[in-house]
Amino acid sequence: MNKIISIANQKGGVGKTTTTINLATSLSAVNKKVLIVDADPQGNASTGIGITYDDRTPSLYELIVKRDFDKKAIKKTIVPNLSIIPANTSLAAAEVELTNINKREFVLSDILVQALNFDYILIDCPPALGFLTINSLVASSSVIVPLQSEFFALEGISSLMKTVQLIKEGFNPKLNVEGILLTMVDKRNTLSSLVEKDVREHFGEIVYKTTIPRNVKISEAPSHGKPAIIYDVNCSGSMAYIGLAREIINKQG
Ligand SMILES: Nc1ncnc2c1ncn2[C@@H]1O[C@H](COP(=O)(O)OP(=O)(O)OP(=O)(O)O)[C@@H](O)[C@H]1O
Ligand SMILES: [Mg+2]
Repeated sequence: MNKIISIANQKGGVGKTTTTINLATSLSAVNKKVLIVDADPQGNASTGIGITYDDRTPSLYELIVKRDFDKKAIKKTIVPNLSIIPANTSLAAAEVELTNINKREFVLSDILVQALNFDYILIDCPPALGFLTINSLVASSSVIVPLQSEFFALEGISSLMKTVQLIKEGFNPKLNVEGILLTMVDKRNTLSSLVEKDVREHFGEIVYKTTIPRNVKISEAPSHGKPAIIYDVNCSGSMAYIGLAREIINKQG
């Protein structure tokens, strides 16, 4: 049985895609078979893992519109054990085109039950609580919420938690918050430490012990089409994502 995890936060630029790519790479490095689903029309996960624009058909959009799985959409990446269903800007149209269909919350779920042979499926959600994020949460067993360690970190988190609760009650009783991940942490910055303290007091156990430091190598890696862990395995950001994978695997027992 595979484990499907949404990486979600409707706030933009908090580290969803970075977490998806580097957690996926860390899990595949310990011999897990991993699939990334790029559910964001921006296609950042696809670009960041080195999938060219010409190699994105069929993409997630075609699967969603046909409401069917097609193994041709699963692209191999430069990372052994790691594949991706890529996205491009056409995915933005899915939301509008699928307004009047039956059970519209279950489109992605119906597709991913046919994606067998993976230990983990990580879904990179867009910065919105619309059709794509809702479909991702309905398809998932859990959600990881990256939070950027800055003043407005908690802004919007209550509406995300409310959405998770509504989806749990209405569509997917097995959905759980896998964990909250503090990203772009700067230990020398007092505000960053205060935000961390605040988040831990507020959310307790579900906040990962592992935090992701602000690290320039992490932000450089996508422009080379590589996960940070391939770009520079020894940088502080890579080490942190490897630690996160370990924490997640250990948590599962
Ligand atoms: N730990 C980090 N250290 C330095 N830069 C980072 C770190 N994590 C992410 N970044 C950079 O911050 C920016 C936003 O990160 P990312 O794209 O992962 O966020 P996102 O939540 O997926 O954004 P969006 O909401 O647009 O999808 C990117 O330029 C990324 O390279
Ligand atoms: Mg993103």
